[in-house]
Amino acid sequence: MDIISASKSYLADTYNRFNIALVKGKGARAWDENGKEYVDLGSGIAVNVFGYGDEEWKKAVTSQLDMIPHTSNLYHSAPAAELARLLCEKTGMKRVFFGNSGAEANECAVKLARKRAFDKYGDESHSTVITLTNSFHGRTIAMLSATGQDHFHRYFGPFTPGFVYAEADNIKDMRRLVSEHGCCAVMLEMIQGEGGVMPLSYGFVKGVRQLCDENDLLLIADEVQTGNGRSGRLYSYMNFERPVDVVTTAKGLGGGLPIGACLIGERAEHVFGPGDHGSTFGGNPAVCAGAVSILSRIDDAVLQGVRDRSAIIIDMLNGTEGLEAISGMGLMLGLKVIGNARRICESCAERGVLALTAKDRIRLLPPLNIDIGDLKTAVCILREEIIRAARS
Ligand SMILES: Cc1ncc(COP(=O)(O)O)c(C=O)c1O
Repeated sequence: MDIISASKSYLADTYNRFNIALVKGKGARAWDENGKEYVDLGSGIAVNVFGYGDEEWKKAVTSQLDMIPHTSNLYHSAPAAELARLLCEKTGMKRVFFGNSGAEANECAVKLARKRAFDKYGDESHSTVITLTNSFHGRTIAMLSATGQDHFHRYFGPFTPGFVYAEADNIKDMRRLVSEHGCCAVMLEMIQGEGGVMPLSYGFVKGVRQLCDENDLLLIADEVQTGNGRSGRLYSYMNFERPVDVVTTAKGLGGGLPIGACLIGERAEHVFGPGDHGSTFGGNPAVCAGAVSILSRIDDAVLQGVRDRSAIIIDMLNGTEGLEAISGMGLMLGLKVIGNARRICESCAERGVLALTAKDRIRLLPPLNIDIGDLKTAVCILREEIIRAARS
């Protein structure tokens, strides 16, 4: 049986997959089982920060596999300690908890905020977490609850209580929710990724920070998709020049292996004690060794490269017939098109360019160091397909 037939026969039918099986990759290029070459503008959904087959990452992971691939969290481990140190040094956070995915990182943040409120009030009266409409925070039952889209609140109930949704960019709405509920935190994506690549406004983020300060709430930045250089800053909240209390991150941090991290700032530094949270694989030495190699290379030059590449894409696409708007920051861009976004992605794939969608937009998340020639070739094809779709 060929790859696609086996995949369609045996995997749970939970993804709207393209009819492509990728078998090899190098940089931003990938090849399918027939040897057809693609430029991938999706990076495994913001995971392959430095493209496929990044040599330094591979070396870091494989040499750690040779040393000790897994130990339990009952023992100390150099890669996890080093990664946590780096994350704290680069963000000013104080402590890190490692899990295996974005959803888990967010679960950790919610547990943290609720325990902090419990410690303060002595009960669960302040357990509500405010998130935003159009947000996305993951697929566990609690994170589906946290996600502010009705579409995700079907089939799997009963859902976890304790989440309410403020309208994005509406500080009055958030103020109302704070006054109506016993709250412990606000959790938001600075750029709503799955929601269509929609950045929050500067004024709103400033207002949320103020509200959190006034009411002793934790401000949690969900940087699962936006983090690790994607927005042109190491974490996207850094574009807003406002501190946050907790940062959750995943995807790109692992460079291709599963990781989730909850970075805890000083307002919640001492909330967790032994037994309060855990994960068998969290902090896995091989995964963390790879992540150290990724994080330590996302320096100012790489971030400048992200902003430069972003400008190239925007310059090339601005004014394109059939393109109504470009949203996002850095190498996390959303394209509002007249044609059908999914169909445009399919016709791009036929021409050797892989792109993603988010809601009704085309979403671009290329590797941070994508070769400029590859980028221009791919964006040219994308532009032609946007125009073609608008005319048809
Ligand atoms: C902002 C955000 N949070 C959380 C998640 C969930 O991450 P994971 O799929 O690693 O659980 C995602 C995934 O797309 C995301 O974009």
